[in-house]
Amino acid sequence: MKPPPRIVAFLCEWCAYAAADKAGASHQAYPQTLLTVRVPCTGRVEPAMVLQAFREGADGVLVGGCHPGDCHHVDGNVRAAARLTLLSRALDQLQIPRARLRVEWVGAAEGTRFAEVATQMTAELTALGPLDYQRRALDSVEDALHVTTARLHQLEEARGAPRAPGKPRVAFYWNASCGGCEEAVVDLGDGFAALAAAVEIVLWPVALDTKKAEVEAMPDGHIDVAFVNGAIRLDDQDHWAVLLRRKSRTLVAFGACAHLGGVVGLGNLSEPGTLLTTAYRDQPSISNPGQVLPGQPVQAGGHELTLPALLSRALPLAAAVPVDFTIPGCPPSPPVLQAAIDLLLSGAGLPPPGAVLAPNASLCDSCPRTGSRPERLQLTALARLATTQPDEATCFLAQGLICHGPATRQGCQPGCVEVNMPCRGCFGPLDGVVDGGAAMLSAFASLFAGDLATQQALATSLPDPAGTFWRYGLAAALLPRRLPEGAP
Ligand code: FES
Repeated sequence: MKPPPRIVAFLCEWCAYAAADKAGASHQAYPQTLLTVRVPCTGRVEPAMVLQAFREGADGVLVGGCHPGDCHHVDGNVRAAARLTLLSRALDQLQIPRARLRVEWVGAAEGTRFAEVATQMTAELTALGPLDYQRRALDSVEDALHVTTARLHQLEEARGAPRAPGKPRVAFYWNASCGGCEEAVVDLGDGFAALAAAVEIVLWPVALDTKKAEVEAMPDGHIDVAFVNGAIRLDDQDHWAVLLRRKSRTLVAFGACAHLGGVVGLGNLSEPGTLLTTAYRDQPSISNPGQVLPGQPVQAGGHELTLPALLSRALPLAAAVPVDFTIPGCPPSPPVLQAAIDLLLSGAGLPPPGAVLAPNASLCDSCPRTGSRPERLQLTALARLATTQPDEATCFLAQGLICHGPATRQGCQPGCVEVNMPCRGCFGPLDGVVDGGAAMLSAFASLFAGDLATQQALATSLPDPAGTFWRYGLAAALLPRRLPEGAP
């Protein structure tokens, strides 16, 4: 017999929660599968709360609110429905069926209906079976990296190695990234010349021929500051992350891919087998007569060669090894990078470990278009960048375009806005925000105007919600990854 599902039910105290009470008081029978959370209005149910419920073991989430028109907070229920429709579509992209997130309107007097909803949802989830979100969750990295407490502890110890005399020793390394962060170093201009004179660069594969064996031979803690960009996508990159953590007194996640997984993290929308066969077998430009895939040995020129194996998911650097500081951005802007380098090399006034070295304020606060944003922004139609020429002086959101400015850390100058492109969120969320994508989804859907049907139409018209809201942060999100087809 299948185990009963666990359902977290966020119920508005004015209606659905009262209906649950009424069902109990009138002895309506329904399955005891609901863990109830009373909320003042469904408008208070944030997407991150739903994802957290899944992450903590819920097989389904029920959001129960007042009927449209009856909300005690004007239209909190309609806004909740729009947000959760977008979230449900994003989950669907990752193989979480929409039946697992249900929004229902139940009046205070509708005890019978509440019992029916609970019974029906329980039956549907029982048929679907357990969700097992923990295994899919992106912060559950054991199966990807065999990260153990012992490994992390060992790496923490290497962090405290005493400093050797001489110029500060600096390393730059790249994992899964485009190389833009390497260019950002050179873009410092005079600042780069000053850096090169002030430090000894002991590793920088893009410019210096330093062998891995030479790094392995360095004493632990030999490197003062290692700037590591790129996500962890290959087993070889994990080995380098561990090696550099051990050899470095300070390890910096440098750029959006190391910080949040970046666009590399979008690979988590596909299962690894599909990525490999698409890239190494199906592409028309590929010549791979042996149909060899990374991780499989091949004989070439009298040698056995093996390309590094693809991990089950892309990960931010901090999921693999302890990270001291983060410099955000795709790529980090010269002022942010220069300030971070100066701070790290001086060692004075350093923030606590784990800090992001960029202003803790939203991009909108520094955006030159802020003044053009209406006091109360209400969207009844969405625009797409591919088919729109945005006005160059007006807030993108006011033009119906998605701009991540409200939920994104400032520090980019703002480069994209200057060339008439909306922010896409590469600097990541502000301090304390667990999931920047969920925060931006919520902020954007909150701008929708109109009745339930209008807002639902807006929420369903937006293509690719997972890729849109989690463009840079999917690998670090509360959202899960996609599992192989047919995975138990
Ligand atoms: Fe019940 Fe808003 S008060 S949903």
